Amino acid sequence: MIEPEIQRLVDAARLGRDCSLSPFSNFCVGAAVETEDGKIYTGCNIESASFGLTVCAERVAIWKALSEGERKFKRIAVVADTDPMTPPCGTCRQIIWEWCRNTTVILANLHGGIEIIEMRELLPRAFDARFLKEVSNEK
Ligand code: THU
Repeated sequence: MIEPEIQRLVDAARLGRDCSLSPFSNFCVGAAVETEDGKIYTGCNIESASFGLTVCAERVAIWKALSEGERKFKRIAVVADTDPMTPPCGTCRQIIWEWCRNTTVILANLHGGIEIIEMRELLPRAFDARFLKEVSNEK
């Protein structure tokens, strides 16, 4: 049995996926990030004809939440039509770590597949701003 809060976040990510702008890869991804007080921000991947400018669904969801003033996050869901489930790319792992720390990441597909994993498993020994502070203290 999936907890209702988890299902709600997966459903939101799935709706986010419906907005995917992925004409170059045809790989549609949706994400949804939940704030500590239960608000949900969704995202989809948005591709560019200059491929490297493409932004993943996870970052779109996080940017939306941050730009609305949100700072504390509980969990994030990612939905794609794959089996096994699609995990966040390396760049998104870094961004999720920086803003959500060791949050819960829910991976889901369109056929009821669901996997729950912690960020520290996806990005062990992460680099973040704490290291920059160490350096500046030495100066
Ligand atoms: N993509 C995401 O949106 N999130 C991921 O976690 C993996 C990859 C997108 C980027 C690009 O639009 C497409 O999937 C193929 O890489």
